[in-house]
Amino acid sequence: MKKQSSPSIIALVTTLLLVLVSNLPVEGARKTKRAVGSNGITKLFVFGDSYVDTGNFVHSPSFKPPYGMTFPGYPSGRFSDGHVLTDLIAEYLGIDSPIPSAARNLTNIQNGINFAHGGTGVFDTNIDGPNLTAQIDNFEQLIQQNLFTKRDLEVAYVLVNAGANDYTTHIKTNGIFDIPTFTSTLVNKLGDDLRRFASLGIGRVAVSLLQPVGCLPLITNIDFHLGCIGLLNRVSKNHNKLLNDVIQELNHERQWGQTFVPLNLYAGFISTIDMMMKKAHNENSSSTNAIENALKACCVTSIGHDCGDVNHYAVCDHPDVYFFWDDVHPSQAGWNAIFSLLKPAMVQLTQQ
Ligand SMILES: *[C@@H]1O[C@H](CO)[C@@H](O)[C@H](O)[C@H]1NC(C)=O
Ligand SMILES: *[C@@H]1O[C@H](CO)[C@@H](O)[C@H](O)[C@H]1NC(C)=O
Ligand SMILES: *[C@@H]1O[C@H](CO)[C@@H](O)[C@H](O)[C@H]1NC(C)=O
Repeated sequence: MKKQSSPSIIALVTTLLLVLVSNLPVEGARKTKRAVGSNGITKLFVFGDSYVDTGNFVHSPSFKPPYGMTFPGYPSGRFSDGHVLTDLIAEYLGIDSPIPSAARNLTNIQNGINFAHGGTGVFDTNIDGPNLTAQIDNFEQLIQQNLFTKRDLEVAYVLVNAGANDYTTHIKTNGIFDIPTFTSTLVNKLGDDLRRFASLGIGRVAVSLLQPVGCLPLITNIDFHLGCIGLLNRVSKNHNKLLNDVIQELNHERQWGQTFVPLNLYAGFISTIDMMMKKAHNENSSSTNAIENALKACCVTSIGHDCGDVNHYAVCDHPDVYFFWDDVHPSQAGWNAIFSLLKPAMVQLTQQ
């Protein structure tokens, strides 16, 4: 697969396809007390984009090889070689990963529903899929049809991972110049969307903070994957600062308590990538392989193509030693490492 050299940073940002999520304390914890629904099962409802989609974006690379090569062994609609964040959270809660909305029927929603759709955002993007508001509208309609009891909702978990694709879309249209203003608009709208979950009677909402977008292989192409681009990570940091504030405000409104907990994807990405890079240096090896594994994708494409485009990608032999699966999505191994750092947040949410 030929790899091309550095288009301008703006061009790269422009093709950014992101994803995202959040922020929290560190250190492992075992499954503690779990909320249990009237049917004995906690449900998980998932909203947002490709970091958490498990099969709603039918006409996308996620349904083409080599996606899914590690799990389930064939393309399943996950934007990774295997499990994504949704699956790890479901496993933590002790339930099966919730059925994608596209495949749901009256008998397969006992673990909840995954409404997330790759490429979508809080606002409309250039992907033909439901924005976050529309995803929540769909959920609300099902509640109105009495598919879930009040108790189901009280003990349910919601996972929201959205915003990265909004930056891609904004930058394509407006360039990089008024990003701080856009961030405020975006986070305020996201806050309004989050508030709806509490109004619907949901007791536990995990909200992903934005990943460090300057570390995505799509972006680090410009420095041959030797380091993250700090300028772009500042966009994520600012987003996360405002989002954390909004989450705190929501928790103070109407005595909802700690309904909303941030998942610090930013810290999860950075810690893991740093660890991989330090290891590479310590090992004193003559090659930079380990560094490449930290910031270089397992599935490499020629510019303008997606992983999964026949004849336009090359896939590594061992996705388990790569943090990134493709230009914007972590590998299953990457998600496992990130999730180990998110567990304290899950514990906090579980103990509500
Ligand atoms: C619902 O979907 C499941 C697969 O998830 C399938 O096995 C089952 O037959 C479907 N039920 C109905 C009533 O369509
Ligand atoms: C979300 O999508 C709906 C349905 O297409 C549209 O009416 C609405 O304006 C969109 N909302 C936002 C915030 O973009
Ligand atoms: C790196 O290699 C040098 C020379 O082979 C050795 O002296 C040094 O201790 C090594 N450093 C580490 C951190 O292993």
